[in-house]
Amino acid sequence: MTNLLMIEASPRGNSSVSRHMAVEYIDEWQRANPNGKVIQRDLTNTPLKFTDAPWLTAYFTPPDKQSAEMKNALKLSDELVEELLGADVIVIGTPVYNYNVPAVLKAWFDHIVRKGMTLGFSGEGLLKGKRCTVLLASGGVYTEGSPIRDRDIATQWLRLILNVLGIEDIEFIAAGGTKVIDLGEQSRSEYMAPIIPLIREAVYP
Ligand SMILES: Cc1cc2nc3c(=O)[nH]c(=O)nc-3n(C[C@H](O)[C@H](O)[C@H](O)COP(=O)(O)O)c2cc1C
Repeated sequence: MTNLLMIEASPRGNSSVSRHMAVEYIDEWQRANPNGKVIQRDLTNTPLKFTDAPWLTAYFTPPDKQSAEMKNALKLSDELVEELLGADVIVIGTPVYNYNVPAVLKAWFDHIVRKGMTLGFSGEGLLKGKRCTVLLASGGVYTEGSPIRDRDIATQWLRLILNVLGIEDIEFIAAGGTKVIDLGEQSRSEYMAPIIPLIREAVYP
């Protein structure tokens, strides 16, 4: 059975463009994989903490020496890693905040980059053979030819960290200029019309 893990990071609920992109992806993916399983990990209601001292202490303690408290500190991280390892296809739906990903998505990565689980002890990525699509919503436009293209740190960083984890097959679908919806200059369906075919195509490798 094929598994899709959908990571969502926008706190804007129904107003979120990346969440609407995620819905389109899931719909098409379910059509293509009627027996597939979808796991939706909504980071806005996941009790993710920044990696603090107890977490780091637990992380750097070999599993057979970890106290119950240490195991507890890593519990959510273990769960998130398990979800990721079980996925064949990973989709990340995220806004751009201050030219990068929102803190909650960075926190997710801090929890899933785990030596011996997703990253080898010699630094090799262990998530081989997985495919990732990133659905990126931003107020600005950063695509080819844009005068602010060099500020597209979110795409660069996501590609880097996914590559580090061993994921080479990555596609980005950028929904730039989303402010036209918030300013009422375009309806959401008008805005989404040219993006939906790109999302549907991305379902097929
Ligand atoms: C706190 C905050 C910071 C933002 N920073 C940027 C930014 O640096 N670059 C940009 O293009 N858009 C920025 N935006 C606009 C969002 O990327 C845009 O509203 C996008 O549609 C949000 O994704 P969502 O619709 O899925 O919630 C920012 C929005 C917020 C609320």
